[in-house]
Amino acid sequence: MNKETMKHNLSYMNDGISFVNGFISYDETKILNDELDYLFSKKSVNGSLREIKVNKHTSIINMPTLAVRSINLLELCLSVKRELEKHDKKFNSYVNTGIEIRQDSRQPALPWHTDNRNGMVRAMIYIGIDKKKSGIFRYMKKSHKRDFYVEHHLSKQEIEVHAADIVNCDVPEGTLILFDSFGFHGRKECLGKRRIIMFEFQAKNSNSPISAVPLSSRILTDNVLSNLSVFLNGATEYTRADMYYRDPPERNIILRIIGKFRRFYRSLRASSHSD
Ligand SMILES: [Fe+2]
Repeated sequence: MNKETMKHNLSYMNDGISFVNGFISYDETKILNDELDYLFSKKSVNGSLREIKVNKHTSIINMPTLAVRSINLLELCLSVKRELEKHDKKFNSYVNTGIEIRQDSRQPALPWHTDNRNGMVRAMIYIGIDKKKSGIFRYMKKSHKRDFYVEHHLSKQEIEVHAADIVNCDVPEGTLILFDSFGFHGRKECLGKRRIIMFEFQAKNSNSPISAVPLSSRILTDNVLSNLSVFLNGATEYTRADMYYRDPPERNIILRIIGKFRRFYRSLRASSHSD
């Protein structure tokens, strides 16, 4: 067992975070990384299934369930959900509301914050962490059960008060990290590069943003088909990474701002048409 796992002896329901070591094998991680080297090597043009640069330091893969062929991301997602269900029966009825493959390079730490979405579960798998431990995830255990309100970021004082509860997720590649994103979390500085897969789960009919899951017949195995309801999350609009599918963010700051306004205007028109 990994040192960090033993040290904290974490339980998801009590601590808001838990680990599963070796969730993806070394070989699977290697094959996936080889494929991701290819997918991240070119930008998505007119919706092609390649890299979308969200900003100077962060890229995602356009529609990863369709782009990635070395592993079946829907099967992996169902395995993650099965892990989650071991912690509480309430997760049986949860749906998947997002699948993302993300690459971060040189950037400052992500400050301590809460997503403030009660009941939301995030599952992260490290695919590539360099020797500099770039972007190691951090969590304050038990902070998902707090009895005080924090808008988004934590003050210096609040961080000090909870310092003893900090879990540095310095775990090997292939480890599954389940966490309640209502709890306080952040990320260490990225001195080099890191790659992760992120799955998000929410209760059915959640009011928080959700993303549709692109499906291909290639990945609809018998197991996926008999669990299809996990992916039928009710998303009707393109949100988050989905909205970039044919309109990726501009690298030029002025064009990026114009693009944001355009997307906002389009979403307003879409919502007024659907009334
Ligand atoms: Fe967050």
